[in-house]
Amino acid sequence: MKKNFFIAFEGIDGSGKSTQVKLLTEKLEKAGLMVYTTFEPTDSPMGKIIRDMFNHRMEADHRTIAALFVADRLDHLLNKTNGILKKLDEGYTVITDRYYLSSFAYQSQFVDLNWVIQANSLSADLRKPDLNIYIDILPELSMDRLNKGRSSIELYETLENLQNVRNRYFEVIDLLKEEQVFIIDGNRSSEIIANEIWNKIRHEFVETPAM
Ligand code: ADP
Ligand code: TYD
Repeated sequence: MKKNFFIAFEGIDGSGKSTQVKLLTEKLEKAGLMVYTTFEPTDSPMGKIIRDMFNHRMEADHRTIAALFVADRLDHLLNKTNGILKKLDEGYTVITDRYYLSSFAYQSQFVDLNWVIQANSLSADLRKPDLNIYIDILPELSMDRLNKGRSSIELYETLENLQNVRNRYFEVIDLLKEEQVFIIDGNRSSEIIANEIWNKIRHEFVETPAM
């Protein structure tokens, strides 16, 4: 078996990231790997401030939010108790629901993309994902899913915004050739998507037969 690795799931809101994080984790654990799953914005005090802003409990300028994401991400990596780097060192395969590509796609709507990339360069230098998995879904479908599953809609969850973010994801993926990105069609059943992701991961990172 190859050594542990770091995967980031990306996509617009409601694209099915958390569903796929769970399904991939189950498959990796079945294959005998230790898996640590995590997410951004994190559940640290900094992540909680961001969530309060997204849930309209606290007002903030988009530039402030962009900077908070930079800090939250550094703590996500460097935290001495449960940081990503520590977990990787301990032998865990780490799967995160969102990482810096999210900032590139979302915050570049309000702040210059070059600033966002530069501000996140400490994180990128510390640890690039071995693979970003971008779940591509039509914004109309993700809005449908969000409207069904949630009582309130967060700051960036409008159709126009999600269309814009989706376009930005593609621009950023095209621009950043050094990023490893696997784009998967998310407009299908969870099982089909999970199997396709598993085939990719299994071939590249885990030497195990199909499950
Ligand atoms: P995200 O983490 O990207 O916001 P979730 O995994 O929470 O997305 O999915 C959003 C909603 O859509 C949830 O109610 C989930 O059960 C549902 N969902 C996820 N994947 C699919 C899929 N492939 N087909 C239909 N519904 C899905
Ligand atoms: P998340 O909880 O992953 O929402 P969802 O499950 O709906 O995808 O993320 C909350 C919001 O935070 C989401 O609208 C995307 C936004 N976000 C950014 O704007 N920049 C970032 O760097 C990250 C990590 C998230």
